[in-house]
Amino acid sequence: MVDSDLSYITTQTNQRYLHVITWGCQMNVYDSNRMVDLLRPLGYKVTNEAEQADVLVLNTCHIRDKATEKVFSELGRLKQIKDYRKEQGHNTLIAVAGCVAQAEGKMILQRAPYVDIVLGPQTYHRLPKMILDVARKTGNVIETDFPVESKFDFLPAPEEAAGYTAFLTIQEGCDKFCSFCVVPYTRGSEESRPVQAILDEANRLCDLGVKEISLLGQNVNAYHGQGPDGNTWNLAKLAEKLSTIPGLSRIRYTTSHPRDMDDSLIDAHRDLPSLMPFLHLPVQSGSDRVLKAMNRGHTADEYRKIIDKLKKARPDIALSSDFIVGHPGESIDDFKATMQLVKDVTFAQAFSFKYSPRPGTSAALSSYQVAEEEKNERLQELQALLRDQQTQFNQNTVGRQIPILFTNTGRKNGQIAGKSPYLQAVHVNADENLIGQERMVLVEECLTNSLSGSLIHKEGVSS
Ligand code: 5AD
Ligand code: SF4
Repeated sequence: MVDSDLSYITTQTNQRYLHVITWGCQMNVYDSNRMVDLLRPLGYKVTNEAEQADVLVLNTCHIRDKATEKVFSELGRLKQIKDYRKEQGHNTLIAVAGCVAQAEGKMILQRAPYVDIVLGPQTYHRLPKMILDVARKTGNVIETDFPVESKFDFLPAPEEAAGYTAFLTIQEGCDKFCSFCVVPYTRGSEESRPVQAILDEANRLCDLGVKEISLLGQNVNAYHGQGPDGNTWNLAKLAEKLSTIPGLSRIRYTTSHPRDMDDSLIDAHRDLPSLMPFLHLPVQSGSDRVLKAMNRGHTADEYRKIIDKLKKARPDIALSSDFIVGHPGESIDDFKATMQLVKDVTFAQAFSFKYSPRPGTSAALSSYQVAEEEKNERLQELQALLRDQQTQFNQNTVGRQIPILFTNTGRKNGQIAGKSPYLQAVHVNADENLIGQERMVLVEECLTNSLSGSLIHKEGVSS
């Protein structure tokens, strides 16, 4: 929906440019793409050159360490660009979006008065109107409340797909309040989009040539959207419906919570060939004591049981996780329990972090903070184990025949590159016209960050 007053912007004769800087999670990437979609009808074209942009958007992340300081340092750089453009006779509008905008709000305008717009993750559908307000010289604008209307109702359908894979946000926010996490404060409470809106967006993306959709949500497997039949649909039912879209060959979802990993979703991994055998299921810790302190709502053995069920349903499923070391009160024995869980489950990849206190969260108030040196040592030990498991996983794919969705040209001439179902980067020597297609590949070599192989033709492996 576009405010009619905005004709002011579209009637400008000169082309207007937009530059978006995105930090943080995939949901921020999705949000940035939607902001581009919102501004496109107003005549804004994306540029990779910040110096060329009439509007600069910094989409921020607040999840860990020094987030706020990082934003102010980047804003210092953007101010120089704004000043330089001013000398050349051009105005530049700076907007700070995302979770730091939500958390810091007014403070951003106080410390960086050259910022024109501060908008939280739930208000970016109002960006065109906010730009107009600034253009009318009503001063800078701040929108960080959690509005009653859903931003999703105001977003235009995507008009361009960036490639053959796309993100699609289906759920947002979180009501779980893990002790360490800022998300419930920055993204607000849990909300699921209606099924029909998701199907429409997915169909549109597939019409634009997308072959793989990653469904996004802070608690994506807690999805409970209103179905076209009037009932509430869960993620398994949504995935089943999406799997009937012609041309959509791969479906993924992230990020999941172990508490919401119900049997219907596990069965979907058995029954839906397009549901990729790869699951990012953060466990954070392998110690029951720490899991309790984190308010995760499950034990380490309950996590192991879920993994066992998943492996039974889909024997080739590859697992990924997030870990935090040094949560307040974490002892050496607690840490050893995490190492044991990693050894028991084995991960194809994982992300691990040192605990960093987040303002406003319960763990930040604990007096049992773990010393920085201790956190460093634990992180190194855990990462060494996770690295070994990742290398082992990649090496185990050598000699296997795996479907690869080719998405772009490779680094070297004559190469094309894509992803395995397990999210590994794979390249082969093959014709560029295979980009956008899924083909069987014999994996031949495991390199540091990727795999290489050869196309399998009906008559055998290509040279
Ligand atoms: N400190 C360290 N890591 C954190 N994460 C979230 N909050 C914190 C924090 N305060 C990690 C969790 C989460 C991932 C997205 O970021 O592992 O799953
Ligand atoms: Fe944060 Fe926990 Fe919610 Fe995940 S489930 S977004 S870690 S509060």
